[in-house]
Amino acid sequence: MTDNSVAIVTGAAQGLGAAITRALLRQGYKVCVTDVQETKGKSFVQELQKEFGPGAVIFSLCDVTKEEDLKRTFDLTVGTFKTVNLLVNNAGIVWEQNPRKTIDVNLMGPIFGCQLALKYMGKTNGGKGGVVINIASTGGFLPAAALPCYHASKHAIIGLTRSYGLPYHLERDGVLFGAVCPHFIDTDILRNPKTLVEGLDVVTNNQSMMSPDYVAQGVLKILEDRISGGTLVVSKEKGYQYIGTQKELDDFTCTVKPL
Ligand SMILES: NC(=O)c1ccc[n+]([C@@H]2O[C@H](COP(=O)([O-])OP(=O)(O)OC[C@H]3O[C@@H](n4cnc5c(N)ncnc54)[C@H](O)[C@@H]3O)[C@@H](O)[C@H]2O)c1
Repeated sequence: MTDNSVAIVTGAAQGLGAAITRALLRQGYKVCVTDVQETKGKSFVQELQKEFGPGAVIFSLCDVTKEEDLKRTFDLTVGTFKTVNLLVNNAGIVWEQNPRKTIDVNLMGPIFGCQLALKYMGKTNGGKGGVVINIASTGGFLPAAALPCYHASKHAIIGLTRSYGLPYHLERDGVLFGAVCPHFIDTDILRNPKTLVEGLDVVTNNQSMMSPDYVAQGVLKILEDRISGGTLVVSKEKGYQYIGTQKELDDFTCTVKPL
């Protein structure tokens, strides 16, 4: 946390993104709340402005599948708060019947976000460094018969985070990358009638759901621990736990450097 800590949180009109926004505001961050849901996002921001002050939080209508929306959001944030030093790539969907949309939102969104974060925060581009936290899932490590596309997208986020989290990017640009990988959270993502997966309600009803506030603490933990490339699993059973796969694959370390 600096005197001028400024965050962008995607998909923050509800659910985990809203909880992360509140957690950051409580820490003294200024936050740009972004979402595709304009009415809900704006009324959430009005509520937050009453609680944290009118200058603490703004809204940006942003579809993470559109790079230009994300760029406009970075510009608005820097224009309003003078800087940006944290991006939380949180927006996500479960929509097995629409694999392309699933990949667009869950993977292309964070890819655009990581690239823009390096552009706006990276020291090689005149920035002061910062942090990017991707919201993955335990689905980033585990298979699921009912959710192959969702789990593929979340596995990809682990690879994205761990690749950007290698020392190269931190040393070069001062930008640290981490991922929060929650197990089941009590949000609407699995309740959307349009995207519901048959049988999944049976599975989720048997799971012990976490509150979004509990999972949001994982973002604060990454900010405190500052382990670049760290993938923090959050579960009701085991709390907050970094899980890595590098140890088992030490012999296969990929040392390819960017051009
Ligand atoms: N709920 C869970 O069990 C669970 C578990 C692990 C990980 N996650 C991840 O947590 C993140 C937040 O999900 P949630 O559980 O709060 O669900 P949610 O459905 O309550 O919230 C998702 C938010 O993302 C927004 N969104 C959807 N498409 C978007 C787009 N194209 N651009 C911008 N915003 C968009 C939605 O409008 C919504 O506000 C997701 O990445 C999800 O995959 C959720």
